[in-house]
Amino acid sequence: MAVDVLVGTQWGDEGKGKLIDVLTRDVDMVVRFQGGNNAGHTVEIGDNKYVLHLIPSGIFRKGVDCIIGNGVVVDPIGLMGEMTALAEQGFDMSQIQLSSNAHLVFAYHKEFDAFSESRLAEGKKIGTTKRGIGPTYADKAYRSGIRAGELCDLESLEEMFRTQLAKYNEIFTAAGMDALDPDEKWLELEKAAKYLAPFVTDTVQSVNSAIKAGKKILCEGAQATLLDIDHGTYPFVTSSSTVSGGACSGAGIAPRNIGTVWGVMKAYCTRVGEGPFPTELNDAMGEMLRKDGGEYGATTGRPRRCGWLDTVAGAFACMINGVDKLAVTKLDVLDGLDEIKLCVAYEIDGKRHDLYPSNTKLLAKAKPVYETMPGWKCSTSNAKSLDDLPENARKYLARVSELVNAEIGVVSVGPRRDQTFEVK
Ligand code: IMP
Repeated sequence: MAVDVLVGTQWGDEGKGKLIDVLTRDVDMVVRFQGGNNAGHTVEIGDNKYVLHLIPSGIFRKGVDCIIGNGVVVDPIGLMGEMTALAEQGFDMSQIQLSSNAHLVFAYHKEFDAFSESRLAEGKKIGTTKRGIGPTYADKAYRSGIRAGELCDLESLEEMFRTQLAKYNEIFTAAGMDALDPDEKWLELEKAAKYLAPFVTDTVQSVNSAIKAGKKILCEGAQATLLDIDHGTYPFVTSSSTVSGGACSGAGIAPRNIGTVWGVMKAYCTRVGEGPFPTELNDAMGEMLRKDGGEYGATTGRPRRCGWLDTVAGAFACMINGVDKLAVTKLDVLDGLDEIKLCVAYEIDGKRHDLYPSNTKLLAKAKPVYETMPGWKCSTSNAKSLDDLPENARKYLARVSELVNAEIGVVSVGPRRDQTFEVK
């Protein structure tokens, strides 16, 4: 099969950027199919660290086509900034193609995102990245969105943009906020439109021509399964289809062309933003995971909530994505621990649940049932194969694989490209 898909199996920040960078060694095309610049994919190459928000991680490999698919929501000013910064560092922007059907994120979407959040009571806030993602997908569903194809027709873009901005300004002023200045915002947008127009194309045809030509393609998921608009912890989710099935609609790929589905799973759990998190640790152990794992948001810098690995949620994620291969990341963060806990079931209202509940209210009441495993108390960061790992680390991985019902294909033991090995 030509198309592999890589998705996060938790609440995001599993290390997808790094994995994609490693997996793109032999691919011809990398495709983003959902989300926007709420994502922050970190890739470390040599001494350099890059954070990508919209540009597919294939950009670091010469000649790899990088597709921003129709399912993505694109902040044109953000994308221009990201592209100019990478171009200055010598990367080739001609590798990028932007779908004419991708919806655009504008200043009014970001303003509305922040405004909506500010109106929610404590405990009801979603904790969005304030990148305008939800309002843009809402406009798309409401059929009042503006798509990237319009970047090539400035007259039409300006007319649509000013009409939509006026509509949002009515809401802002009614709420006692300042209106956005249409002329100032148009000038910023016009500059980005001129820069991006040459990159706009029919990416569905590009992707399908590549499939036909037998090229190797990797679809790069952003955010993750438990933040999926349908299958995540609604309403504490993002607004797109983050699961492997989302790659079909978000890039225009027929299901029969999907090959291997990679699921990325951190060796423990983290979450940014609000919403249920059964294994969250609000203690010294949680603090240690945050510190040793460098758990701060790549997009917003927010400290991430940390906890033990939840294999009940993990098994659910592997099931709905059809994970063929699991990539376990950040195993090294657990190196110093005496013992490690794995959540193997939940207790909800006094009853044991072995399966992940799709009802967010039930999940919010879930208490983790733990299995405790001995730690390995030595560094794994130089391991180059499963055999190099201490026995207890191998046992931990084997137990995770058994509990989530997916085969481990890759293990990552540090942030660098070379701190990743395949499990044969
Ligand atoms: P939004 O996508 O900005 O609307 O945010 C909705 C929820 O998804 C919030 O809880 C965010 O913290 C979370 N979120 C969005 N993007 C990411 C990401 O790339 N990593 C982790 N969490 C994310």
